[in-house]
Amino acid sequence: MIQIDALRFAWPQDTRRDRPPADTLAIDALHIEAGSTVFLHGPSGSGKSTLLGLLAGVLVAGSGRVSLLGTAWSTLSVARRDAFRADHVGYIFQQFNLLPYLSPTDNVLLPCRFSARRLQRAHGPGGSARSQAQSLLERVGLDPSHWSRASSALSVGQQQRVAAARALIGRPEVVIADEPTSALDADLRETFMNLLMDECRAAGSTLVFVSHDARLAERFDRQVSLVEINHAAIDRAAA
Ligand SMILES: Nc1ncnc2c1ncn2[C@@H]1O[C@H](COP(=O)(O)OP(=O)(O)OP(=O)(O)O)[C@@H](O)[C@H]1O
Ligand SMILES: [Mg+2]
Repeated sequence: MIQIDALRFAWPQDTRRDRPPADTLAIDALHIEAGSTVFLHGPSGSGKSTLLGLLAGVLVAGSGRVSLLGTAWSTLSVARRDAFRADHVGYIFQQFNLLPYLSPTDNVLLPCRFSARRLQRAHGPGGSARSQAQSLLERVGLDPSHWSRASSALSVGQQQRVAAARALIGRPEVVIADEPTSALDADLRETFMNLLMDECRAAGSTLVFVSHDARLAERFDRQVSLVEINHAAIDRAAA
């Protein structure tokens, strides 16, 4: 489902001309099987969000290959990347990226506006995409009184749950979740994790999940330590 080969990625943080930017990530190989669930962990600043951005084609590798469903992101134009992501990836960003002027319902429906495939898959025996969106909002525990108001009026934890519902609508093949429980209390976290795992299992989605919360790790098929697979820091020290 996801395959990384000889990936190198550098943020252009160091603009001094006498030094090339140091790699943030150097990963020789990572293969994630279809339908599996992966818990990715590592210290703050180690490059977890950067790696998720590369998996989802939001960022493109400086060299090497990142492919999803057999397609390498680097072979697609920017417009094709956006379309391919909308069709196949649900992404809960660390900063949520909700459109503040849209209601929670319309935020959840956004992937269906960008992807005919997601719209079609959101339609089901349960009804329209809108009723699916509202069913997801109900299941992440957002009170119906919030569903039609601007998302900017939501608390951080409420926004996080809307972002999760948006990632799940239309059963994407890959769900990417960047610290999706960081703003949730213990009860909500439990409910949310059950919903996320159930939805991914029911849809056969591959889940890549980043968290600092080690208590969640045992729910996943596989745990990946970014520090162990990323030798950029070692390369830097050796240079
Ligand atoms: N937009 C950006 N521009 C330049 N550098 C960036 C950018 N985003 C991240 N970086 C750098 O890349 C490195 C990895 O950052 P990243 O956000 O991927 O870490 P992380 O593991 O997700 O951290 P956290 O656990 O705090 O979310 C950091 O050194 C950071 O400064
Ligand atoms: Mg991060």
